[in-house]
Amino acid sequence: MKKRTLGPCVTFFPQPTTIISSLSDTGEVNLMTASWVGIVSKTPPTIAISLNKERKTYQNIKQTSEFVVNMVPSSLALEADYCGIRSGHNENKLDQTSLSLEPADRIATPMLVESPLNLECRLVREIELGDYRLLLGEIVEIHATETAFSVEGEIETKAFDPLVYLGGIRQYWSLGEKQADAYKDGLQIVKKK
Ligand SMILES: Cc1cc2nc3c(=O)[nH]c(=O)nc-3n(C[C@H](O)[C@H](O)[C@H](O)COP(=O)(O)O)c2cc1C
Repeated sequence: MKKRTLGPCVTFFPQPTTIISSLSDTGEVNLMTASWVGIVSKTPPTIAISLNKERKTYQNIKQTSEFVVNMVPSSLALEADYCGIRSGHNENKLDQTSLSLEPADRIATPMLVESPLNLECRLVREIELGDYRLLLGEIVEIHATETAFSVEGEIETKAFDPLVYLGGIRQYWSLGEKQADAYKDGLQIVKKK
C-alpha cells in the first residue's frame, strides 16, 4: 500500500462522538462534545477523556470530580457539532439546543435524555499533557436504552446508531454494516489453513 506522510498531527479515526455533561459547584450543567474518549480498563471499568484545560467542562469536573459521557446517536450530529463549537463560558448550550437532561443514579451530574448510552463517571486521576488534561473516570453506572433490547434480551446494535467522528478530516459519519463477531470470527482464518 503506497502511503503519504502527514507529519505529527492528530489525524486518526474512527473516534466516538460523545457529549460530556458536567456540573459546576454552583449547580449549572454544561454540555461539551468530545471525541478524545476511550475505555482504558475493565477492572475497574475506566474511561479516559482528554480536555483542554480552558474548557468550561474541565473546570466543572475539577470542581465536582464527576461527569457523564453521553454517546451521541447519528440523529444528533448538528447538536453535537454545536456543543463542540460554543462554550459554556459564554452561553448555556441547553437553552440553544433541543437537548434535555435526566437525573443519573450514582452521581449528581445529570445525563442526556436523547443519548441511548450514558456512562456515569467519578474522576480518579488526572495526567497533564501540554494544554490538555487526560482525565480518568471510573465508570460507576451505565444506562442503555430499553429500545435496544429484544424480548429475548439480545441487544439490537442499530438502536444505538453511534455517530462516528473522523478526526483530522473533520467529518461525522454513521456506522456501516456489521462485518464479523469479535473474539470469535478471527479463528476462521486458522481453520482455513
Ligand atoms: C467533534 C468534536 C470533538 C471534540 N473533541 C474534543 C476533545 O476531545 N477534547 C477537547 O478538549 N475539546 C474537544 N472539542 C472542542 C470542544 O468541544 C469545544 O472547545 C467546546 O466549545 C468546549 O465547550 P466548553 O467550554 O463549554 O466545555 C471537540 C469539538 C468537536 C466539534
